[in-house]
Amino acid sequence: MKVRGLAAGYGRKRVVEGIDLDVAAGDIVLLLGHNGAGKTTFARALFGLLEPEEGKVWLGDKEITGRSPARNVADGFAFVPQGHGVFRTLTVADNLELGGFVEHDRSLLAERRERVFAMFPILAERSSQLAGTMSGGQQQMLAIGIALMHAPSFMLLDEPSIGLAPNLVEKVMQSVVEINRTLGTTILIVEQNVKASLPIAQRAAVFKTGQKIYDGDPEPLNDHVRLMEYF
Ligand SMILES: Nc1ncnc2c1ncn2[C@@H]1O[C@H](COP(=O)(O)OP(=O)(O)OP(=O)(O)O)[C@@H](O)[C@H]1O
Ligand SMILES: [Mg+2]
Repeated sequence: MKVRGLAAGYGRKRVVEGIDLDVAAGDIVLLLGHNGAGKTTFARALFGLLEPEEGKVWLGDKEITGRSPARNVADGFAFVPQGHGVFRTLTVADNLELGGFVEHDRSLLAERRERVFAMFPILAERSSQLAGTMSGGQQQMLAIGIALMHAPSFMLLDEPSIGLAPNLVEKVMQSVVEINRTLGTTILIVEQNVKASLPIAQRAAVFKTGQKIYDGDPEPLNDHVRLMEYF
């Protein structure tokens, strides 16, 4: 994905401005930033949930600026939103079924579902449970599972570790790496959990009050003092 000069906001309120970002095919790229920095606004503008006010977005060679989420999904761009990533009143199985809505080949869908179950066995065990009655961590795994049903070439995750216990944060990060390695999915992951997410990233960007203030090697951000300068 390539982003140039992206600006987005709500009404007259500009939230992010002048954002350039490159996510090389096959990479895991991390987007960090404090609460309210504009990470979700940026993510929504990439996926087409919010019309960008300025700038352009490309997915591979194709310009996708302002295109609808449905078209993006059909083109292999999956979005795992911050919180509320599942249909709470539907079962786990039905959530996955909905996740595969753009694909009509039943055997392909069955294959994808098996892959999701292999990655997250709890979802297989609880396939007939209502998603809204699953724990926060289980719902997050389901949200990732729904996105995997699209077999995406590009996956954008917005704070998947938020509110999870440390062992589940680790599990979510491992699943992101597994998706990247085994399916070759390019990943852009928004996080605030620096410690858990830095080790899995090939590149990291930091947002501060709507602007990108760092972009490059994740390694220097391991330095706590330097990180604090950026936050
Ligand atoms: N729907 C909206 N209408 C108006 N302002 C909004 C809306 N959504 C977010 N904002 C404002 O935009 C700014 C950035 O919010 P955003 O959700 O993009 O931040 P964030 O970096 O994702 O934060 P967090 O880490 O807490 O999720 C905030 O000041 C927020 O109040
Ligand atoms: Mg957010």
